[in-house]
Amino acid sequence: MSEPRIDAERFLGRLDAFARIGATPKGGVNRQALSPEDRCARRLLAELAQARGFGVHQDAIANLFIRREGKDNSRSPVLIGSHLDSQLSGGRFDGALGTLAAFEVLEALEDASVEAPFPVEAVAWTNEEGSHYQPGCMGSMAFATGSIPEQWFTLRGHDGSLFADELQATLEALPEAAMRPVGFPIAAYLELHIEQGPSLEDENIPVGIVEGIQGTRWLEVEINGQSAHAGTAALAFRRDAMAAAVRGLGRLYAEIMPRDERARFTVGRFAVEPGAVNAIPERVAFTIDLRHPESAALDRFETLIKSTFAEDASAGGCTSTLRRIFDMPPTVFSPVLLERLHEAADSLRFTSKSMLSGAFHDALFVSRVAPAAMIFVPCRDGLSHNEAEYVEPDQAVAGARMLLASSLRILDN
Ligand code: HGY
Ligand code: MN
Ligand code: MN
Repeated sequence: MSEPRIDAERFLGRLDAFARIGATPKGGVNRQALSPEDRCARRLLAELAQARGFGVHQDAIANLFIRREGKDNSRSPVLIGSHLDSQLSGGRFDGALGTLAAFEVLEALEDASVEAPFPVEAVAWTNEEGSHYQPGCMGSMAFATGSIPEQWFTLRGHDGSLFADELQATLEALPEAAMRPVGFPIAAYLELHIEQGPSLEDENIPVGIVEGIQGTRWLEVEINGQSAHAGTAALAFRRDAMAAAVRGLGRLYAEIMPRDERARFTVGRFAVEPGAVNAIPERVAFTIDLRHPESAALDRFETLIKSTFAEDASAGGCTSTLRRIFDMPPTVFSPVLLERLHEAADSLRFTSKSMLSGAFHDALFVSRVAPAAMIFVPCRDGLSHNEAEYVEPDQAVAGARMLLASSLRILDN
């Protein structure tokens, strides 16, 4: 047995190969969960795995597991991975970096003929982004709860596709993947990911040791008024859903982030009906992505959002409803695993920084059923969910080396 090492050229070549699947003209990727592009990426990973003699497994929500056997295969595996799906105009590293680094760890162990005490598996979770179908983190959420919520099967994506159909097509696209139950015991979970923020790059630190993830809530607001003629309806007769929405949003943009620098308030999707230039909007529906490290603050802001639109809607003769479509409470990762990560960074002589994640990740749900932790690497200008997302090759390789060193320390303990 020799010392396992990351093969930088192989790993960087993999990143390039997967970036070509769903590639967009500006250098990003559009690999929507359970889309043909997602299926193409899964197939490539499965074929690479089979070429190395690794096991290929999937569960009923198409989480994809690549298994390298260890000495005692009756023991729960160490799971390392991330996701292969992307935003509509996403970057080529969000998710893919961690998934391919996990596969590179398996290859490094194989190249060095390491007999790990128990199995190590690389995982690609289904629909982390929540871009094609909401909510996000469907695969890891189902894994953590052990079941797939019935209502997910009737969800339609932004392209009108039915979740059940696309899930079935994805499962059938990998007939060689042995089926597994949704959820099974694991020894630990590690995820490498880009920071998706500027701090590591600003401070010139190669590795972030992620101690937890802030809370996220996705809300859908709907305001209903009355459509009328844009030219003839005077103000007193208008029940303008758009006017109520704009008034409420104006107040919330002014009250939330400027007064709490840890709060994040984003309106990402906005629908207007009837959507004619010369008809007063009868209905508007929009999403709010609300984040904060403290649950109490999320509660406070959600109450403020609800009351703001109720007031502004009624003032304009409209009605408003607010629906919570996703709730990820803040989470903290395993202190034992975090200690292993600090040891691994020290062994590699990497300067590291302990930090909280502003983005949610599959590790949030997996941490509910096993010790979990994350490793961040810098990305240029902290930019993500943008086609210009970029990671310097040596920083990507450093992340993979940190994932390997951390995995070995978990295997040795
Ligand atoms: O939105 C998020 O936090 C994740 O990147 N999908
Ligand atoms: Mn991600
Ligand atoms: Mn993302």
